[in-house]
Amino acid sequence: MSDALQAPRGTFDVLPEQSALRLTVEVSARKILEAAGYRRIETPAFEDTDVFRRTVGESTDIVQKEMYTLIDGGGRSLTLRPEVTAPIVRAYAEHGMHKLAQPVKLWYLSSCFRYERAQAGRYRQFWQIGAEAIGSEDPAVDAESILLLAAILEELGVRGVRLRLASLGTPASRARYRELLQAHLRAHEDRLAHDVRERIDLNPLRAFDSDHAGTREVMQTAPLLLDHLDAADVEHFATVRALLDASELGYEIDPTLVRGLDYYTRTVFEFTSEALGAQSGVGGGGRYDGLAEQLGAHATPGMGWAAGIERILLAAEERPVPEPVCDLFVAVGGDGAPERTAAFLLAAQARRAGVPAQVELAGRSLKGQFKQAARLRARYVAIVGADGIELKDMENGEQSAVPSPSAVVATVLRGRFET
Ligand code: HAM
Repeated sequence: MSDALQAPRGTFDVLPEQSALRLTVEVSARKILEAAGYRRIETPAFEDTDVFRRTVGESTDIVQKEMYTLIDGGGRSLTLRPEVTAPIVRAYAEHGMHKLAQPVKLWYLSSCFRYERAQAGRYRQFWQIGAEAIGSEDPAVDAESILLLAAILEELGVRGVRLRLASLGTPASRARYRELLQAHLRAHEDRLAHDVRERIDLNPLRAFDSDHAGTREVMQTAPLLLDHLDAADVEHFATVRALLDASELGYEIDPTLVRGLDYYTRTVFEFTSEALGAQSGVGGGGRYDGLAEQLGAHATPGMGWAAGIERILLAAEERPVPEPVCDLFVAVGGDGAPERTAAFLLAAQARRAGVPAQVELAGRSLKGQFKQAARLRARYVAIVGADGIELKDMENGEQSAVPSPSAVVATVLRGRFET
């Protein structure tokens, strides 16, 4: 098939049935997040490329291989957002949100773009639901944020959920730990995968993520960051855990948890689902206390997560697709322009009154129009003819003349109320 007749590789059309299911994710997330004081934010689909380079990190796969970057007509380097946290912190700084009561709690439902190898659950354009609480270091922010994602996944029926949790400490403790890890990797360099060896200087932590057998063996005896945190980080992490324990949310501490973005400090976490294949991450996030400074703004702590809508739906129990509702189908019962106009106006009047109503739009015969009304599962059919309007109740088959368009609308409204 010609490329012009296919969506680009790794992208997909959201067809009406899928759109209805996706709306259920949006509705649950909005309800749960707004009840906790989060308010929706929308940032542009593209940002200055530096927003991601400075924060997501030069050594990450995202920045090295996956960004859709373009030079615009004015010679600026712009990038389609591969994630939304850095844009939101940019917006927080740009709009002076530090003047508001802290933390500022924001949620989003946004498309993201990553040039990744496309497969089930991994796309080049995908949508994230996310929540960011910016402006407080309090460990209660971390625990609350994690609980909110757990509640959303539970409400949506995501199966086989596991929560993994760790702390990455502060940049200072991480820098000391990096040296220890680098020394360990260098001591076993000959057994490491080529790409791990290449990244010993830039990003030694990624070695924990490797599938390579030799690397995995070397990593079994590697020093762990969790054993080298500062006292303040240890205390912060202990409080996060205590709050999760008190909330009875189960989790596993995973000292090797690696996130694909460089901006994290202290708490990091990931929810996985057994219902997903290789791409088992449903949602994840953590604290990013250095991100605002990396962008050139005042130091501002932050904490949040994002979850992929497509992965949530893949991992959730099947649910019926919500059916569109049509309470009134307006049929044209004659050949004349006056009937067509009257039918058209009746449907518009019904919709203004709050009645889901459709009018014949394809020139069908009266029989064809009844078939169409049945397909739409219309509760009532109004037949607008030269001699007036008849209204048929499709539930009991009764049909009678109705004096005016307003009387049709009143009857349909009454019918809706009664059922
Ligand atoms: P992330 O782990 O890169 O984190 O992505 C979050 C979620 O987005 C993943 O768990 C997954 O469900 C979904 N996702 C990622 N890549 C793809 C893809 N190619 N196709 C389909 N779904 C995908 C972040 O993006 C951070 N901004 C999260 C965060 C918010 N951290 C702090 N605040």
